[in-house]
Amino acid sequence: GVSPHLVVAVDGPAAAGKTTTCKALSRRFGLGYLESGRTYRIIAFEALRRGLPPDNPVNVVDLCDELLRESREQDLLTSGRYGSADLRSPSVNVAVSDVARIHELRKRVTELVRLWARHQGRCIVEGRDIGTVVFPAAPVKFYLTASPEERARRRLGQEGGASYEEVLADVVRRDEADMSRAVSPLVPADDAIVIDTTTMDLEEVLARMGAACERRSVTF
Ligand code: DC
Repeated sequence: GVSPHLVVAVDGPAAAGKTTTCKALSRRFGLGYLESGRTYRIIAFEALRRGLPPDNPVNVVDLCDELLRESREQDLLTSGRYGSADLRSPSVNVAVSDVARIHELRKRVTELVRLWARHQGRCIVEGRDIGTVVFPAAPVKFYLTASPEERARRRLGQEGGASYEEVLADVVRRDEADMSRAVSPLVPADDAIVIDTTTMDLEEVLARMGAACERRSVTF
């Protein structure tokens, strides 16, 4: 079956530094790394490109199945086929919240992520529901967060020419969308280690994560 004992689960709100932190941790420990939000973004991008409403469950699930038939699973998970200009545009930022509410789609993405992890062995998986739904038995779970203002500051400059106020409004909107949806809402797992990174730099966050892995006897 799945190898949940080998997965480090990292969840948290938008722009909390999950991707930067996970990439650094995966390099340091030589672990595989998967950004599960990317798959939701690819589906949202393709829906917009084809003129499909991103909040229509039938259309979006059909699209996902078609993409899976057409391409390899790899394309939806880790391939470089989509650039960040495609996947991080303001329109995708909005559409992805609709797409991520669709239960049938979440089931498919969850299966894809589990399959990927099974082939990887030791790995870090980042998202919103990794410790709660995708790998509830993961031995180490982190919930990375920071104040909305600090997250907006960090994201500023990464999102084209958007102003601080625009970036902050988008962060707050996505928090609300991720935390209030009926299916797999963003919430720390009961056994997650919550790290508020508002006043921490990357090294401090990495040190805490490394120490927590050791405490839980997860060595890489
Ligand atoms: O991590 P990100 O900002 O790239 O994720 C994009 C969107 O995908 C996010 O707003 C919510 C959704 N998402 C999700 O619902 N579950 C995940 N495991 C990962 C992302």
